[in-house]
Amino acid sequence: MEETFLELQEQPQLDEIINRYRGKHGELLSILEEVQKRNEFNFIPENALNYISQKTGVPLARIYNVVTFYSFFNLKPQGKHTITVCRGTACHTKGSKSLLDDIGLILGEKKGEVNGEESYTTSDNRFTVTTVACFGQCALAPVVAVDGIIYNNVTTAKLQKIISQLSKEPKRRNGKKGGKGV
Ligand code: FES
Repeated sequence: MEETFLELQEQPQLDEIINRYRGKHGELLSILEEVQKRNEFNFIPENALNYISQKTGVPLARIYNVVTFYSFFNLKPQGKHTITVCRGTACHTKGSKSLLDDIGLILGEKKGEVNGEESYTTSDNRFTVTTVACFGQCALAPVVAVDGIIYNNVTTAKLQKIISQLSKEPKRRNGKKGGKGV
Protein backbone atom coordinates (compact mmCIF):
# COMPACT_ATOMS: atom_id res chain seq x y z
CA MET A 1 0.00 0.00 0.00
CA GLU A 2 1.23 3.54 -0.80
CA GLU A 3 2.32 5.39 2.29
CA THR A 4 0.47 8.64 2.67
CA PHE A 5 1.06 9.42 6.32
CA LEU A 6 4.21 9.79 8.33
CA GLU A 7 5.03 7.23 10.94
CA LEU A 8 4.60 8.90 14.32
CA GLN A 9 8.24 8.51 15.24
CA GLU A 10 9.40 10.24 12.05
CA GLN A 11 7.52 13.47 12.56
CA PRO A 12 9.65 14.90 15.41
CA GLN A 13 12.81 14.30 13.37
CA LEU A 14 11.36 16.07 10.36
CA ASP A 15 10.07 18.94 12.49
CA GLU A 16 13.51 19.37 14.02
CA ILE A 17 15.19 19.51 10.59
CA ILE A 18 12.58 21.87 9.13
CA ASN A 19 12.71 24.22 12.13
CA ARG A 20 16.51 24.31 12.12
CA TYR A 21 16.66 25.62 8.54
CA ARG A 22 13.53 27.76 8.63
CA GLY A 23 14.14 31.22 7.12
CA LYS A 24 17.78 30.44 6.30
CA HIS A 25 19.36 30.87 2.86
CA GLY A 26 18.85 27.71 0.81
CA GLU A 27 16.26 26.46 3.29
CA LEU A 28 14.54 23.94 1.01
CA LEU A 29 17.74 22.39 -0.36
CA SER A 30 19.23 22.09 3.12
CA ILE A 31 16.11 20.40 4.48
CA LEU A 32 15.95 17.95 1.58
CA GLU A 33 19.66 17.15 1.81
CA GLU A 34 19.49 16.42 5.51
CA VAL A 35 16.33 14.36 5.28
CA GLN A 36 18.01 12.19 2.64
CA LYS A 37 21.26 11.99 4.61
CA ARG A 38 19.43 10.77 7.69
CA ASN A 39 17.49 8.14 5.81
CA GLU A 40 19.14 4.74 6.18
CA PHE A 41 18.49 4.01 2.54
CA ASN A 42 19.66 7.39 1.27
CA PHE A 43 16.41 8.57 -0.27
CA ILE A 44 13.52 10.93 0.48
CA PRO A 45 10.24 9.07 0.99
CA GLU A 46 7.14 10.47 -0.68
CA ASN A 47 5.43 11.04 2.65
CA ALA A 48 8.38 13.15 3.80
CA LEU A 49 8.09 15.32 0.66
CA ASN A 50 4.40 15.85 1.39
CA TYR A 51 5.14 16.75 4.98
CA ILE A 52 7.93 19.18 4.04
CA SER A 53 5.58 20.88 1.59
CA GLN A 54 2.88 21.16 4.23
CA LYS A 55 5.23 22.55 6.88
CA THR A 56 7.24 24.95 4.71
CA GLY A 57 4.39 26.12 2.47
CA VAL A 58 6.47 25.30 -0.62
CA PRO A 59 4.18 23.74 -3.25
CA LEU A 60 4.76 20.01 -3.71
CA ALA A 61 5.28 20.49 -7.45
CA ARG A 62 8.19 22.84 -6.76
CA ILE A 63 9.74 20.38 -4.33
CA TYR A 64 9.51 17.65 -6.97
CA ASN A 65 11.16 20.01 -9.47
CA VAL A 66 14.08 20.41 -7.09
CA VAL A 67 14.53 16.72 -6.24
CA THR A 68 14.32 15.66 -9.86
CA PHE A 69 16.66 18.44 -11.06
CA TYR A 70 19.55 17.51 -8.77
CA SER A 71 20.84 14.02 -9.50
CA PHE A 72 22.07 13.47 -5.95
CA PHE A 73 18.52 13.31 -4.63
CA ASN A 74 16.92 9.88 -4.65
CA LEU A 75 13.23 9.11 -4.59
CA LYS A 76 13.76 5.38 -4.19
CA PRO A 77 15.72 3.37 -1.60
CA GLN A 78 19.38 3.07 -2.53
CA GLY A 79 21.74 0.17 -1.96
CA LYS A 80 24.59 0.45 0.50
CA HIS A 81 26.97 0.45 -2.46
CA THR A 82 26.48 2.06 -5.86
CA ILE A 83 27.89 0.65 -9.07
CA THR A 84 27.74 3.10 -11.97
CA VAL A 85 28.48 1.77 -15.44
CA CYS A 86 29.35 4.22 -18.21
CA ARG A 87 27.13 3.76 -21.24
CA GLY A 88 28.81 6.35 -23.47
CA THR A 89 29.92 5.47 -26.99
CA ALA A 90 33.55 4.63 -26.15
CA CYS A 91 32.56 2.43 -23.22
CA HIS A 92 29.76 0.82 -25.22
CA THR A 93 32.27 -0.07 -27.95
CA LYS A 94 34.49 -1.64 -25.31
CA GLY A 95 31.67 -3.82 -23.95
CA SER A 96 29.95 -1.85 -21.22
CA LYS A 97 26.59 -3.44 -22.04
CA SER A 98 28.05 -6.89 -21.38
CA LEU A 99 29.52 -5.61 -18.12
CA LEU A 100 26.10 -4.36 -17.10
CA ASP A 101 24.57 -7.74 -17.91
CA ASP A 102 27.37 -9.53 -16.05
CA ILE A 103 26.83 -7.37 -12.96
CA GLY A 104 23.18 -8.44 -12.99
CA LEU A 105 24.28 -12.07 -13.16
CA ILE A 106 26.88 -11.67 -10.42
CA LEU A 107 24.33 -9.99 -8.16
CA GLY A 108 21.64 -12.50 -9.13
CA GLU A 109 19.19 -9.73 -9.90
CA LYS A 110 16.88 -8.92 -12.74
CA LYS A 111 17.54 -5.58 -14.35
CA GLY A 112 15.03 -2.80 -14.17
CA GLU A 113 14.36 0.17 -16.39
CA VAL A 114 14.06 3.64 -14.91
CA ASN A 115 13.55 6.60 -17.21
CA GLY A 116 15.03 4.67 -20.08
CA GLU A 117 18.20 4.05 -18.08
CA GLU A 118 18.98 0.76 -16.46
CA SER A 119 18.89 1.20 -12.71
CA TYR A 120 17.95 -1.14 -9.91
CA THR A 121 18.65 -1.95 -6.30
CA THR A 122 19.24 -5.52 -5.17
CA SER A 123 16.57 -7.09 -2.97
CA ASP A 124 18.98 -7.23 -0.02
CA ASN A 125 19.66 -3.49 -0.46
CA ARG A 126 23.38 -4.04 -0.77
CA PHE A 127 23.83 -2.64 -4.28
CA THR A 128 22.29 -0.05 -6.55
CA VAL A 129 23.34 -0.44 -10.17
CA THR A 130 22.97 2.56 -12.40
CA THR A 131 24.40 4.09 -15.58
CA VAL A 132 25.95 7.38 -16.63
CA ALA A 133 26.33 8.98 -20.07
CA CYS A 134 30.12 9.54 -19.84
CA PHE A 135 32.73 9.80 -17.09
CA GLY A 136 35.04 11.84 -19.33
CA GLN A 137 37.68 9.10 -19.32
CA CYS A 138 36.81 7.63 -22.70
CA ALA A 139 40.42 6.67 -23.53
CA LEU A 140 40.34 4.27 -20.57
CA ALA A 141 37.04 2.59 -21.48
CA PRO A 142 35.20 0.71 -20.23
CA VAL A 143 34.83 2.77 -17.08
CA VAL A 144 32.84 1.83 -13.97
CA ALA A 145 32.54 3.67 -10.65
CA VAL A 146 31.96 1.81 -7.40
CA ASP A 147 30.98 4.03 -4.49
CA GLY A 148 32.45 6.99 -6.38
CA ILE A 149 35.80 5.32 -7.07
CA ILE A 150 36.52 5.19 -10.79
CA TYR A 151 37.89 1.98 -12.29
CA ASN A 152 39.34 1.98 -15.82
CA ASN A 153 39.66 -0.82 -18.37
CA VAL A 154 37.17 -2.80 -16.35
CA THR A 155 36.64 -6.49 -16.94
CA THR A 156 34.00 -8.82 -15.54
CA ALA A 157 36.68 -10.55 -13.46
CA LYS A 158 37.72 -7.22 -11.94
CA LEU A 159 34.11 -6.42 -11.10
CA GLN A 160 33.53 -9.86 -9.66
CA LYS A 161 36.44 -9.28 -7.29
CA ILE A 162 35.20 -5.84 -6.19
CA ILE A 163 31.63 -7.06 -5.68
CA SER A 164 32.70 -10.13 -3.72
CA GLN A 165 34.82 -7.95 -1.41
CA LEU A 166 31.88 -5.62 -0.76
CA SER A 167 29.49 -8.55 -0.32
CA LYS A 168 31.50 -9.77 2.66
CA GLU A 169 30.37 -6.76 4.70
CA PRO A 170 27.52 -7.28 7.18
CA LYS A 171 24.01 -6.82 5.84
CA ARG A 172 21.77 -3.93 6.76
CA ARG A 173 18.94 -4.55 9.23
CA ASN A 174 17.40 -7.83 8.05
CA GLY A 175 18.28 -6.79 4.50
CA LYS A 176 14.85 -5.26 4.22
CA LYS A 177 13.73 -2.58 1.81
CA GLY A 178 13.67 0.93 3.18
CA GLY A 179 10.18 2.21 2.57
CA LYS A 180 10.07 4.25 5.71
CA GLY A 181 12.24 6.40 7.84
CA VAL A 182 13.57 9.92 7.64
S1 FES B 1 32.18 6.98 -22.87
FE1 FES B 1 32.70 6.06 -20.99
S2 FES B 1 34.05 7.49 -20.10
FE2 FES B 1 33.38 8.45 -21.90
